[in-house]
Amino acid sequence: MNFQWYPGHMTKAKRQMQEDIKLIDLVIELVDARIPLSSRNPDIDELGKNKYRLILMNKADLADRKATEQWSAFFKKKGYYVVSLDARSKNGMKSIADIIMEACKEKMERDRKRGIKNRPVRAMVVGIPNVGKSTFINSYAGKACAKTGNKPGVTKGKQWIRLSKSVELLDTPGILWPKFEDQKVGLRLALIGSIRDEILNTDELAVELIRFLKTQYPGILTERYEVEETQKETELLCGIAENRKCITKGGELDYSKAAALLIDEFRSGKLGKVTLEWPKEQENG
Ligand code: G4P
Repeated sequence: MNFQWYPGHMTKAKRQMQEDIKLIDLVIELVDARIPLSSRNPDIDELGKNKYRLILMNKADLADRKATEQWSAFFKKKGYYVVSLDARSKNGMKSIADIIMEACKEKMERDRKRGIKNRPVRAMVVGIPNVGKSTFINSYAGKACAKTGNKPGVTKGKQWIRLSKSVELLDTPGILWPKFEDQKVGLRLALIGSIRDEILNTDELAVELIRFLKTQYPGILTERYEVEETQKETELLCGIAENRKCITKGGELDYSKAAALLIDEFRSGKLGKVTLEWPKEQENG
């Protein structure tokens, strides 16, 4: 399957981020817990070098818990602080505040030794589109948080949200673009809905999803659609169309409707908690 990707504005977004990143101590990088690697852009490691780093595995409510645990260990081993969360819920925000302090304790200690008091840690949120950046900022900062206004050296209109006595967050997230060199990465991003559906072949995408689920999550399709998983992918799609009564006006089975339905139910978690890539695959190349 071939994917086209975002035209234009990537360079602009990157330049903006290079500017913003100079102002901060801590990069809060959001990834999608269902595809923690494919939803990253490794450029952030270069852009964010010499910064404290926190990875938030967001949409963990949709991901396989076991996989999330493994990914968490994977990133921790690489030296990042890691938290998994559902950004729509305010639960877990307290532990993020604690982790931010923990991640930046070196800086705070240094400030303290130099006699600098009350200089807050400055953080910014980054991530690919649709990963939940705005949701996180809204949940975390909430409405009660005072905006601290413009500061010298900050692009006009940019504001800091004071999260606590010790932490300030840039109100605009940095946008990263996923890396598309690998077709598998493209497929995974398409499956979670990171690529506009208009440019995708939904039937083909559904077949790929069925292939993956059959092998990695056996039983999941049978349970929801009462289909026989030993069938070929296309036949299975017919089975889903039958089960869900996806019928064209002419009275035939409507595969495209079934494909769209399957993808939609996968994305919204109705099929269950599914992770599309595991750290072990990385280790095995
Ligand atoms: P962005 O700023 O990074 O582009 O992402 P944004 O916050 O706009 O979130 C994109 C979508 O992901 C939103 O759904 C949002 O509700 C959803 N979302 C964010 N965090 C989580 C999470 O932890 N779990 C789940 N399940 N969903 C999450 P939407 O369909 O665009 O809008 P709506 O459904 O909220 O109306």
